[in-house]
Amino acid sequence: MNQLYNTNNILESLFESFEYADTAQLRLVLDLDHSDEVLRQYLSIDEMREIGSFFTGQKLSSLAVKGLCNAITFDSVVLDPTCGAGNLLIECSRKLGIKNSLLETLKLWGNVLCGFDLFESFIRATKMRLILEALDRGAKKDCSLAEALSQFGNIKVMDAMYLHSEELKNITHAIMNPPFSSWDSPEVNYWKKGKVNSAGVVLDHYIRNLPDECVISAILPDVLRSGSRYEEWRSYTSNNLIGNCEVIGRFNKKTDVDVFLLTGLLKTSNENISWFKSLQEYTPVSEFFDVCIGPLVAYRDPEKGPRYPYVHPKNAPVWETLKELSETREFTGRIIEPPFVVIRRTSSPSDKSRASATIIATAEAVAVENHLIVIRPKSSTIKDCKKLLKVLKSPKTNDFLNDRMRCRHLTVGIVKQIPFQ
Ligand SMILES: C[S@@+](CC[C@H](N)C(=O)[O-])C[C@H]1O[C@@H](n2cnc3c(N)ncnc32)[C@H](O)[C@@H]1O
Repeated sequence: MNQLYNTNNILESLFESFEYADTAQLRLVLDLDHSDEVLRQYLSIDEMREIGSFFTGQKLSSLAVKGLCNAITFDSVVLDPTCGAGNLLIECSRKLGIKNSLLETLKLWGNVLCGFDLFESFIRATKMRLILEALDRGAKKDCSLAEALSQFGNIKVMDAMYLHSEELKNITHAIMNPPFSSWDSPEVNYWKKGKVNSAGVVLDHYIRNLPDECVISAILPDVLRSGSRYEEWRSYTSNNLIGNCEVIGRFNKKTDVDVFLLTGLLKTSNENISWFKSLQEYTPVSEFFDVCIGPLVAYRDPEKGPRYPYVHPKNAPVWETLKELSETREFTGRIIEPPFVVIRRTSSPSDKSRASATIIATAEAVAVENHLIVIRPKSSTIKDCKKLLKVLKSPKTNDFLNDRMRCRHLTVGIVKQIPFQ
């Protein structure tokens, strides 16, 4: 992270020579779409993933601030507990007025804006960018850099998870895009053992520790909204936040993760948050079909035993009915009696069809690879397979899957829930 000190030097020289500063460069450092790109020049994608440092662009930052259901004023105390280089705090500052003098402006902003991050270079960048933002908006430079920086005593290096209700009791607004990394489960309350998404852990911690009536706006990974592992997280959040959930789609062009915006007011609540679009009552696929993952795991299967027709994503052209398969394979595991439908597990909201399917209508039972999901009609008829293919191809199924599951693969659970009738 130390490489970022170079960038901070640029920010500091922009302050020192503000009167002669290159306005294009100034605008660039304040451009919320630019900071993510700057970070990518210094860090590999793996490093960015590990610390979860993906900075929020302009459009999403504006949406997140708009989502705060009480206005930000000089009486507010606004916290971004994982503030990175300050994008969300800069967008919040744009709701605050400025005074003639820089020092006076920063005194007021410093009482409102609070932020934490693990990295000193990010905290320094946040403060510097807020100072430059105030100058860019017209406040007159009337103090030294040290004086300007010292106004932001509430923006500091801190582990967001170390703060509890006593230290957070004055916060009126919390805005966040927490890291989406893999953390060890806290193993308290409803958290089970294993690795979990850090964004869920951070939000849970802040729901427990922020004061009642605090308003929240959080950019979160879609897995928290749609993953079956996070049902208890959703239920806890619903019980403690009078909130609203908006599907946003991909975080930005370079970051292949879908996000949603959760906004609301902290308060014990009996109202459920609508995590998904509500549908009229319907009959799901599971009523007429058995659904499972293909049992053959190709890379570790010893290829021993009787030989069967073998299907995997590459030899199953979509929307076709196959009476014969081009490959066979020896297999001792569970084979599937035809007719049945297979769909590819890999599936993205950018695909034309989320559930690309093929009917398998061979004479013999088939070895099915585990990158396919098997959907076998309880009636054992090809007629039901054909009906299902139509359903899977329909825009309604695409809409359903895009609402329920925006991550890049389908699960047995979600396929079972697809509306069949
Ligand atoms: C996804 S970035 C968001 C930054 C900023 N809020 C934005 O929207 O541009 C998450 C930030 O959280 C920081 N972070 C990760 N773990 C943290 C922790 N335990 N406490 C505080 N900050 C943390 C990372 O360094 C990173 O800057």
